[in-house]
Amino acid sequence: MRTYLVTGGAGFIGSNYIHYIFKKYGDEIRVINVDKLTYAGNLENLKDIEDKEGYTFVKADICDAETIDRIFRENDINRVVHFAAESHVDRSIKDPGVFVRTNVLGTLTMLNAARNAWEQEDGSYLPDHKFLHVSTDEVYGSLSNPEDYFYETTKYDPHSPYSASKASSDFMVKAFMDTYGFPANITNCSNNYGPYQFPEKLIPLMIHNALHGKSLPVYGDGMNIRDWLYVEDHCKGIDLVQEKGRLYETYNIGGHNERENITIVKTIISTLRDMLPEDDERRAHITEDLITYVTDRKGHDRRYAIAPDKIKKEVGWYPETCFEDGIRKTIAWYFDHQEWMERVTSGAYQDYYESMYSNR
Ligand code: NAD
Ligand code: TYD
Repeated sequence: MRTYLVTGGAGFIGSNYIHYIFKKYGDEIRVINVDKLTYAGNLENLKDIEDKEGYTFVKADICDAETIDRIFRENDINRVVHFAAESHVDRSIKDPGVFVRTNVLGTLTMLNAARNAWEQEDGSYLPDHKFLHVSTDEVYGSLSNPEDYFYETTKYDPHSPYSASKASSDFMVKAFMDTYGFPANITNCSNNYGPYQFPEKLIPLMIHNALHGKSLPVYGDGMNIRDWLYVEDHCKGIDLVQEKGRLYETYNIGGHNERENITIVKTIISTLRDMLPEDDERRAHITEDLITYVTDRKGHDRRYAIAPDKIKKEVGWYPETCFEDGIRKTIAWYFDHQEWMERVTSGAYQDYYESMYSNR
């Protein structure tokens, strides 16, 4: 039986990933979810599996070496999937320090703990024990030529404190592979969207604001381009890389779906109008009049675009969900989970841990 240690499993992608692997492997696996529950961690994302046999939640900071070491000592962890990070560019511009602490030092703590647990006396590693580091395409910087794409060989050129901290963590993983032969992979993926995304990121923020008749703040001229990937496709890619990819390799995971931000916002408006019932009063205020151009983000990268050729060729992964389907599925999820959204925006979700776990 495989035991996964998933860090940041209460966040957006991590919680989708835990759902994905339980759906795929069922009772054949155990999952230990280590999460500090920062503002971005929401245990309500995992409500339906919280009592599942084979699932354990540990509230811990990935920088806490003693606790992380203990988790490795007490369990035969053979898969680490490392999501935990500070992930929002705007926050990194305001306060870079916590990004360095969690993303760089936290990753180092995870690497040290896994190496201590897995390295044998002769320098080899326990067989079939692997670490996957989840990173971002933002480490490659910004593309100016419309014909260019990010490949695994593209030189790192991070600009924001967020992407600089992720680049640093990637280099630390590479250093462990090169120096100690540490069994790892790195994935660099494009912008994700889908269920459970915290409404500080573009897509859930726009859905939430539009439904509440609030303005839709578009940074700068709205012409920055991101390559949008449906989160379940990303989770599938991570699993395929870890099980079928070549150890020590980096794989880019992208949606092949480049859109300008303003196009995303207009698509959300038209899809909301299309999906809401004819007699829903909110239809009246969901119009392009809500769009408000605001001061641009400092150092705003212009375009990200991934060429996911290597992952397709080597493990057979490709983005299955086209944007038109993905955005409808995402909006349908937010319609069905309005209470989740209200609890996130009011801050009430942060009481959930106390109420569910304080007496356990
Ligand atoms: P998120 O912000 O939604 O979740 C991060 C999770 O990590 C939260 O549950 C939080 O509580 C936890 N966490 C933060 N600091 C911690 C610490 N010190 N110790 C333990 N847990 C801690 O992030 P996400 O969007 O799910 O992103 C997950 C990973 O994927 C990150 O590494 C991010 O860099 C990467 N990534 C995200 C995207 C995207 O579009 N969201 C794109 C590319 C890469
Ligand atoms: P975001 O979701 O924060 O992801 P990232 O910065 O990691 O790509 O932002 C996506 C794009 O949308 C980015 O170009 C910034 C822009 N944006 C807005 O125009 N308005 C907003 O309110 C937000 C949150 C983002």
